[in-house]
Formats: sequence, structure tokens, C-alpha cells
Amino acid sequence: MSNEAKLELDGKVFTLPTITGSEQERAVDVSSLRANTNFITLDDGYGNTGSCVSKVTFIDGDKGILRYRGIPIEELAEKSSFIETAYLLIYGTLPTRPQLKQFSDTIAEHQFLHEDMKYHFQGFPAGSHPMAILSSMINAASCFDEGLMNWHEGKARFDTYVAKLISQVRTIAAYSHRQSKGLPLMYPKQSLKYTPNFLHMLFSMPYEDLEIKPEVAKALDLIFLLHADHEQNCSTSTVRMVASSQANLYASCSAGVCALWGPLHGGANQAVIEMLEQIHREGDDGSKFILAAKDKTSGKKLMGFGHRVYKNHDPRAKIIKKACDDVLSKLNINDPLLDIAKKLEEAALKDSYFVERKLYPNVDFYSGIIMRAIGIPVEMFTVIFAIGRMPGWIANYKEIMEEPKTRIYRPRQIYTGRTENHYVPLDERK
Ligand code: SDX
Repeated sequence: MSNEAKLELDGKVFTLPTITGSEQERAVDVSSLRANTNFITLDDGYGNTGSCVSKVTFIDGDKGILRYRGIPIEELAEKSSFIETAYLLIYGTLPTRPQLKQFSDTIAEHQFLHEDMKYHFQGFPAGSHPMAILSSMINAASCFDEGLMNWHEGKARFDTYVAKLISQVRTIAAYSHRQSKGLPLMYPKQSLKYTPNFLHMLFSMPYEDLEIKPEVAKALDLIFLLHADHEQNCSTSTVRMVASSQANLYASCSAGVCALWGPLHGGANQAVIEMLEQIHREGDDGSKFILAAKDKTSGKKLMGFGHRVYKNHDPRAKIIKKACDDVLSKLNINDPLLDIAKKLEEAALKDSYFVERKLYPNVDFYSGIIMRAIGIPVEMFTVIFAIGRMPGWIANYKEIMEEPKTRIYRPRQIYTGRTENHYVPLDERK
């Protein structure tokens, strides 16, 4: 296997090095292309372009493989927890018992926000989308801790901010929901673990202790875990883009929240439920909608289907589909949207349009149904995704900061606009 690529341009042959990763993925390293040939590469949507080398997560889209630091997602889903998996992603290995306790204790220590932050929440009108509040308040949180601007002063300080952000994104998210519904903010409860505490802050009312069903907390913890990282997706690439300018951790992750919000990315779970509700409302068994999703002029897509990398089943979708059945039967819920989703999946997987384009259910196709079953409001679905993805964003941020060779991300372009022309005074313009 050659470790060089030959490129012929204008009759001249250039040699470019190649790189092979630990899973035998191969790339042509074009870092020297422009200096030696005056050409750049162009790759709309970066479908063929690696922005970095990374040790955090590996996906094989053809085989439907997803591993966090080499451990298959199926094993973590069955045996781990969200916080333990967060540690694995950020620090590279599963924590020992003392390490896990230290990490969990630091997260618990920082579960409260600075009390003055509540005045910022009160500034948002009821009905504000919680993703807008979340991205703003993550950045706002950095104003209440002057040390954050000097986050790079030592590992201990960085580790504190890692745990603090994982803890506070959950508190901010719960407060975002409460504020958007005009409800009183519910403080965290020191006696509760990460995910039950989030459910408490989301749903408890003053002077009433919410009964948190273990199966509900377990289902949500699994959803967080399955969303924890996913290579260089749109939002993680955004975090790395901002981090490459040496911005602080909170600023970079706040930018990640904004990128995740889009309906083609993290907003898809909300879009899936809205799609299923529309199908149910119209009395369609899904067949009409499938026809529309195949018709480019309809402006409709089968939300929760398709993926830039997976050209086979998204392993997370398989795990969530099974969890769906488990949770709904344990909670004794019979949701017509689940039946519609299963019919849509069955029909699409037999339909040549989807088969030819290798469009399979992705992580978002069933996740919304579980969240709906445990009472999460649909506008909070992408916020749940953001809480889950926070460890992946932090792990990628840390990778950038620890790589001395990291340069600021600054892609080139091919200009296709007007060539040189000159200023025309206002009265002479036609
Ligand atoms: C996530 O990157 C990640 O890792 C993301 C994520 C993560 O964990 O971070 O996995 C989470 O964002 C999952 C994706 C959630 N989004 C959706 O479910 C929205 C619906 N899906 C599509 O918009 C689309 O499949 C994307 C955005 C997911 C992928 O888009 P691509 O790779 O740019 O694919 P494409 O748009 O070029 O589609 C190729 C073809 C096109 O048809 P042709 O031009 O070849 O005729 O497939 C069609 C598309 O029209 N197509 C769909 C479709 N998805 C693609 N047609 C109908 N319904 C769909 N859902």
C-alpha cells in the first residue's frame, strides 16, 4: 500500500503524502497543495474532507459501527452511564472508582448557577425557544466566573471547568424550560444524581417532591449517552472552529448549541415528532407522506432518516428503538406515533428511493418518541441532545487545545463573483 498520491496538474505531476488511521481509513494530505501547485481543493459540505485527526470517536458508516474511544456504543449503552461515558470521551479511558467519584463530586459541587444569573433568565419572554436561552446562558455563565478567561492556567483549573460546564448545562437547560413556560425556577437537589436531578429541575413544583421513576431516569440517561459524541458532525466541527481561535470552552460550546439547533442536525428530533403528529392528524398511515418525501418539489423530507456518514443502520437508532418499546411498555403507554414511525420505517426500507440512496433511520427517528413518553416537551428535545453532546464537544475542544500544532481554522474559497469594477456615484446608477 503506497503512502503517496500522484496528482497531475497542467502536465506536471505532484506527489502528496497519504495518511492511514488506526482503523485503516486513508486520506491524501493536501496541506502542501496550494504552496506547490497554486491549486486548492473544493468539497461542498466537506463530504470528502477530513478537518483533523482525532482519537475520540470512530464511525464506520458502511458497517454501522460507532465506538467511543474504541468501545462499541452497544456495550456502553448496556453497561455504562452518561457521566462515566462522559469521562471516557473527555479523558480517554474509563475512570477508576476514585476518578469517577472525583468527577461526579465536582459535577455535583457546581450544579448551582450564580444566583444573579436568574435575572438573565427573567429577561427572556415566556415562549422563548429554550435553545436560544441555552446558547445565550452558557456564554453568560462565563461572565460569572472570571477564572474562566484564564482557563488554560493548569490542568486542575481546566478539569474544574469541564465538570462545571457538564453540570451547569443541565441546570441552564432546566431553567430554560421553566422560563419559557413561565414557571418558577426549580433549584437542583444535592441528593440526586445527574439525570434524576435534571428531571427534578424540569418537572418538580415548589413544596412538591416529584416521584422520579427509575425507568424514566434510565431512559433519559441512555439518550444522553447515545448522543455524547459523533466525530466531526456539524456542531462538533463548529466547536473546533471556534476553539481553534483560542476562544474559551464556554464560548466554543455555546457556538455548538447554535449549530445543533438546525432541523437538519440536532433539531431533527423535534422535526420527527412534528412530522409524525402531522401524519397522525391527517389520518395518513404514512404512505402519503412517504410519497411527498420522495418528491423534491414537496419540500418535505422523511425527518430522522438519512445520514452523511451512515449508509447502513445508525447503531444508535437500533438501540433507541428497542428502548422505546421497553419504556413505553413499562410506562404502559400506547403511543400511535410509535406505530406510525414503525410503519414508515418498514415502508421506507422496502422503497427503492430510500434503498438506492442508503437512507436508514438515524438517532433522531425514535428518540423523540421516548422523550415524549417521559414527558419532555417537544421544544426541549434538541436541548436534551445538547446536554448529551456536551462531553463530545468538550473532548474535541480539549483535543484542539492539547495539540501544539493546531492552527486557526481558516478554509479557502473559489471566488465566483464579479471581476474588478468601479464605484458609480449614486445619481449615475441605473
Ligand atoms: C444528526 O453528522 C452527524 O453525525 C449528525 C448526527 C450526530 O450525532 O451528530 O448523527 C445527528 O444530525 C442526524 C441527522 C438528523 N437529520 C435528519 O434526520 C434530517 C433529514 N435527513 C436529511 O436532511 C439528510 O439525510 C441529512 C442532512 C441527514 C444528510 O444529508 P446529506 O448527507 O447532505 O445528504 P443529501 O442531502 O445529499 O441527500 C442525498 C440524497 C438526496 O437526493 P438526490 O439529490 O440524490 O436525488 O438523499 C435524499 C436527498 O434529497 N435525502 C432524503 C433524505 N435525506 C437525504 N430524501 C428524503 N428524506 C430524507 N430524510
